[in-house]
Amino acid sequence: MARFTLPRDIYHGKGSLEVLKTFKGKKAIICVGGGSMKRGGFLDRAQKYLEEAGMEVKLFEGIESDPSVETVMKGAEVMQEFGPDWIVAIGGGSPIDAAKAMWIKYEYPECTFEDMCKVFGIPELRHKAKFCAVSSTSGTATEVTAFSIITDYAKGTKYPIADFEITPDVAIVDPELAETMPKKLVAHTGMDAMTHAIEAYVSTANCEFTDPLAIHAIEMIQKDLVDSYNGDMEARDRMHYAQCLAGMAFSNALLGIVHSMAHKTGAVFADYGAHIIHGAANAMYLPKVIAFNAKDETAKKRYGVIADYMHLGGKNDDEKVALLIAYLRKMNDDMNIPHCIGHYGKDSMPTEQGFVPEEVFLERLPGIAARAIEDACTGSNPRQPSQEEMEKLLKCCYYDTEVDF
Ligand SMILES: NC(=O)c1ccc[n+]([C@@H]2O[C@H](COP(=O)([O-])OP(=O)(O)OC[C@H]3O[C@@H](n4cnc5c(N)ncnc54)[C@H](O)[C@@H]3O)[C@@H](O)[C@H]2O)c1
Ligand SMILES: [Zn+2]
Repeated sequence: MARFTLPRDIYHGKGSLEVLKTFKGKKAIICVGGGSMKRGGFLDRAQKYLEEAGMEVKLFEGIESDPSVETVMKGAEVMQEFGPDWIVAIGGGSPIDAAKAMWIKYEYPECTFEDMCKVFGIPELRHKAKFCAVSSTSGTATEVTAFSIITDYAKGTKYPIADFEITPDVAIVDPELAETMPKKLVAHTGMDAMTHAIEAYVSTANCEFTDPLAIHAIEMIQKDLVDSYNGDMEARDRMHYAQCLAGMAFSNALLGIVHSMAHKTGAVFADYGAHIIHGAANAMYLPKVIAFNAKDETAKKRYGVIADYMHLGGKNDDEKVALLIAYLRKMNDDMNIPHCIGHYGKDSMPTEQGFVPEEVFLERLPGIAARAIEDACTGSNPRQPSQEEMEKLLKCCYYDTEVDF
């Protein structure tokens, strides 16, 4: 038996934030990040709408990018004191993911972070509060997914919490919130969405319910992402829906080793000033992983189908895979995303000499590879890499060399 789970309600369209006015409850806590939602006026509006709904509203502000275990624990404490019956998380993937983890701890104060990380091991939520997610970036789709990614900085690694219990009750997909995104954020979150859709489509857990969502998302992202990056606001609006469709697909079909590798490389070089942004990591690793996975016949066929939907041409599946890889690399070029860790420089821009010195990368490589293999996203990848293969693949992602194994 398989399961396909989405939020009970997805409100979409410009101005859909207003639906908060109709929520029923006594107390709502709004969880938000560093200030972009305040500057855009969206935080004030959300608060006003919830107050109009007759609720007492508390703010939990300042959730950092790539939220930490400590932030989760702090937020959960505030929730325990305040006792909200609605948790409304507004912003990018970071504040929404943090709020999801806070929710678990709020409902089960004895639950430790280690308990939360047991895949599909979360106890039944919604005894204390329901959850609404309002996304302001067009990538993670955490507003509709069963995932939350929390970083343990002491260990230098990201941990995915995965359970349909944390799929929000309500998602609000209001493209107005995404219009204030700076270009770089558009590029990174957009390639994150592309990776979600492609990994979901070739995942071993794909099914008839997830395939159409993944394919349509890929078509939309192909059409709209670069235009959105270049300032076309109609394309920006459509990207907000496309990333949500990709999220519906991967929340149910799961992901693959692009994400495993991104999770394990994101924070591990932070001591060298190289925080590898999630979407940028995915954008760099995706073409490499496609080449690796395409050695599996079923995956190769599926990449061929993707290439067909993207009208890339090609006489056979090998040619289609090569054209797909070339297309994705061109998207990176069009949006100033580097092709490899070795060229990942300041502000995540391509540069000759990136942040991560070669000797540091090579020294940490065995550990990163081992942790990537253990990542929750590896299980549904079409090809299971050995330690040696994962190390070789990561080297290709460092040097931008061809994957021929
Ligand atoms: N839960 C999931 O299913 C899932 C999937 C993929 C990634 N993730 C995680 O999500 C996190 C990344 O999320 P993200 O890429 O959305 O970025 P983010 O939430 O970390 O935000 C990045 C920056 O953009 C700013 N920002 C957000 N929206 C803005 C807007 N509309 N205008 C201007 N600035 C804005 C934020 O203030 C922040 O400074 C990572 O921790 C990643 O691992 C989660
Ligand atoms: Zn992602």
